[in-house]
Amino acid sequence: MSSVPASELKREVSRRRSFAIISHPDAGKTTLTEKFLLYGGALNLAGSVTARKNQRATTSDWMELEKQRGISISSTVLQFEYKDCVVNILDTPGHKDFSEDTYRVLTAVDAAIMVVDAGKGIESQTRKLFEVCRKRGVPIFTFMNKLDRPAKPSLDLLDELESVLGIAAYPLNWPLGDGPRFRGVYDREKGEVHLFEKTPGGAFKAPEEVSDISDPRVREKLDSDVYEQVSEELELLDGAGADFDLDAVSSGELTPVFFGSAANNFGVQLLLERFIDLAPPPAARLSDGDRIEPTSPEFSAFVFKIQANMNPKHRDRVSFIRIVSGKFERDMNVIHTRTGQKVRLSNSMSLFGQDRETVDDAYAGDVAGLVGNHDFLIGDTLSSKKNLSFDEIPRFAPECFAYLHNSSTAKFKRFRSGLQQMLKEGVVTEFKPLDTTGAYVPLLGAVGPLQFEVMQHRLQGEYDAETRIEPASWSYARWMRKKEGETTPEDLPELSMDVRLVRDAHGHLVALIPSEWTLRTFTEKNEDWEVSESPFSA
Ligand code: G4P
Repeated sequence: MSSVPASELKREVSRRRSFAIISHPDAGKTTLTEKFLLYGGALNLAGSVTARKNQRATTSDWMELEKQRGISISSTVLQFEYKDCVVNILDTPGHKDFSEDTYRVLTAVDAAIMVVDAGKGIESQTRKLFEVCRKRGVPIFTFMNKLDRPAKPSLDLLDELESVLGIAAYPLNWPLGDGPRFRGVYDREKGEVHLFEKTPGGAFKAPEEVSDISDPRVREKLDSDVYEQVSEELELLDGAGADFDLDAVSSGELTPVFFGSAANNFGVQLLLERFIDLAPPPAARLSDGDRIEPTSPEFSAFVFKIQANMNPKHRDRVSFIRIVSGKFERDMNVIHTRTGQKVRLSNSMSLFGQDRETVDDAYAGDVAGLVGNHDFLIGDTLSSKKNLSFDEIPRFAPECFAYLHNSSTAKFKRFRSGLQQMLKEGVVTEFKPLDTTGAYVPLLGAVGPLQFEVMQHRLQGEYDAETRIEPASWSYARWMRKKEGETTPEDLPELSMDVRLVRDAHGHLVALIPSEWTLRTFTEKNEDWEVSESPFSA
């Protein structure tokens, strides 16, 4: 493999921006993504999405959506160039429910844009996603959307960021009115006013007129009370005095706030441009405590998502890797840390909706889809020379449990291979009872019930396997091992009422527990056992 000049790596890394857009469903994530694509020249005409209503059907997943939509944003990553920057937007599945999938995607980004419906303020799903970003120290930018509709007072929205999410907010622009009286935004950094015209369906780039706030045309355009109010608010904000602190943004303590209307293209370009300026390029990641710099000459990456049958035309398995360092080159040989095997990365592609393009090279921050590498599991590390090991993927203890019944004995093979695939992809987790007698009815765990729905939907759609879910009443999974000495298979904790002992996929002992009360008594009863919310590391 040719050695890559340091200057090339430095240049390519510094121009990459890899981020996710997070929001509560319906806040406008899809619309904003499309508008970014429009500005990035990746789409000529936004508004090609016609079947949005279908998106809200609870279980509709990426595949259904792909069929229903002209362009899919559920294609894991969208890449486009904007003003010499390479923009990677990673899709976080827009489920209403908690989903591990979403959280895994967030391990692969360097920043996030949080879309808030300004009429509703911070909603529950936004809060959860925000927490994950914050825990990871990911810088978060806020876009207050739907200003063309009646919105909460802008100052209240800022307060909500602080009081509900506990993050300081700094508005980089400010809305001029809301609802039918929304006329544009004031750019606080440049002291410029951007007035917007509505275009039919928000389909084309919004025309902008730029001038100063004191421009008589601004007064003319705004209702006098709106003008007065905006002037007062701006004065108040300036009076508050704090300077914009980019370091605080980088460390996740401060969120820059933008206002606009994605559907009408109000404020979208301003957001995109400032985001590109302010958001960080790919950062170093830790491998066993060592910092692996993105510009390091050695290639390294981790698998953050695996998906089979992504496209009915290509029924195959794709492992998505986020590149951490070095340069990815098609056909390169790498070490697969978990197995120690050498693997040739030959079949690499980027996916854009239904289209696939071969990826010949890529750099830190980019995502590549590797087709057909069946040994990869979520969380695995690949690297070109050394055995590196990234530990990026969070593990969540399952909180929902269910038995999965196969409805048709004749289709048992399909049921089994479909389920194996779902387990590999991490859609659900299987727990094996200690005594395996009787018919095979897998006991599954998930973090949220939606994972079961998605699994059933996919088993039916991709494997023609009809299934029935029988919910089980446990709410906690706890990994167990003796505090002293080795835990042998004969060693079992003392059971409390309704506690069930099972083993995870690696044979580790797990107790399934129905209630907090039982959890307490069970823990007390088994003082000589360690009880953990996640598997013990080796
Ligand atoms: P999501 O991905 O976050 O779930 O939201 P999505 O973009 O699908 O937007 C949800 C709804 O909100 C859509 O309406 C969309 O048009 C609308 N929307 C997005 N941005 C704005 C905005 O700035 N102003 C207004 N007024 N609406 C906005 P829909 O009725 O579901 O679809 P459609 O019939 O409008 O296509």
